[in-house]
Amino acid sequence: MECDVKPVRLAILGLGTVGGGALKLLQENAAEIKRRTGREIQITHVGTRRSRPDLELEGIQQSDDLMHIVRQPDVDVVVEVMGGIHPAYEVIMEAIKHGKQVVTANKALLAEHGNELFKAAEDNAVQVAYEAAVAGGIPIIKVIREGLAANRIEWLAGIINGTGNFILTEMRDKGRAFTDVLKEAQELGYAEADPTFDVEGIDAAHKLTILASCAFGIPLQFDKVYTEGISKITAQDVKYAEELGFRIKHLGIARRVENGIELRVHPTLIPEEELIANVNGVKNAVLVQAHAVGPTLYYGAGAGAGPTASAVVADIVDIVRDISYTEDGAGTIPQLAFEALTDVPILKREEMTTGYYLRVDAEDQTGVLADITTILSRAGISIDAIMQQSRLKDLIPIVILTDPVVESKMDEALAKIQALPAIHGEIVRIRLESLDS
Ligand code: HSE
Repeated sequence: MECDVKPVRLAILGLGTVGGGALKLLQENAAEIKRRTGREIQITHVGTRRSRPDLELEGIQQSDDLMHIVRQPDVDVVVEVMGGIHPAYEVIMEAIKHGKQVVTANKALLAEHGNELFKAAEDNAVQVAYEAAVAGGIPIIKVIREGLAANRIEWLAGIINGTGNFILTEMRDKGRAFTDVLKEAQELGYAEADPTFDVEGIDAAHKLTILASCAFGIPLQFDKVYTEGISKITAQDVKYAEELGFRIKHLGIARRVENGIELRVHPTLIPEEELIANVNGVKNAVLVQAHAVGPTLYYGAGAGAGPTASAVVADIVDIVRDISYTEDGAGTIPQLAFEALTDVPILKREEMTTGYYLRVDAEDQTGVLADITTILSRAGISIDAIMQQSRLKDLIPIVILTDPVVESKMDEALAKIQALPAIHGEIVRIRLESLDS
């Protein structure tokens, strides 16, 4: 049954990889989408300076005056897919003030200014939907908000940056150079405009901020995410980790613990038999541990035109359904569920607990190994495995796996080991997580 014959009118701001993908998907799959919404979706405006002769833009008004577009009466939903913080923030605020529903894929904007945007949306009785902001085509936001709504989420851990995962996979499987793989990720349209966002974990930290907010009902707190990138991961450590039965993955982890919430992004050793350790290439995966259902794993493409457009259009469909089926035309889904959790502290890195892979390059001298293990044992750090590698130049790499330990203890122990005269170079420390429950 069709509730309303009037089409819903969209403005798409940005016609890059995601905007072009969303426009094409809406056009190519229009009949199917209409079957799901009961209403036609009409793109009335595109906001861009770009010329895209490959797209069908007939009958659509094109302008680069974004503020003008979002004030137009023939726009019901604004789809912001241009990225960057400014002017996206101002344009979305203006759209909200003009009563427009908003769909955005802008993880940086939400992680850093989402609290203000969601508040404005609530005040103006509109929605800001953002499925595409996290893990591309995987509907992880809808999973947390709808599919797992009955659960208390205990922790989640995800490979949430496709470019980083692509780089680590190619380095491991083909021994390719870091910069070469990054260039390919840029050409394929996966990488951020500033690729240090991918490589240094900032993009993953943005996404983790959003996931944690949905999962735990806390405000967005990007500045409190402990963030480490993959740029220091060497082929040598990838090889040693494999010899010990582990893969190195770049994970975003959000976990409730007794005294607060851990929010962290860093390279992590994961036992090779775990499913998430086998998520390769540009693919993303998010493992969610929830109290009633237990662990569930969500896997798929985390970047690229088709997958991200799939998430953008899913949000458009939700909004069209909501505005068609509520009396006042306003959305029904609260923006952020500020549960009674807002006082829970986000832990500092020193307060977090993880296992460790350590690589210490030492001179081949009697007693060095004993000195290292004594320091660890005096600090109460339990060693899970220890492996002395073959000599490299004049040094012996010693690889140690530890049981989980509070990071402050590890910091103190490593400072003492680093000060031993027989130790050369900076000790390599990569965190280790066993995620199978
Ligand atoms: N640069 C991001 C990635 C794009 O590689 O995952 C998708 O958010």
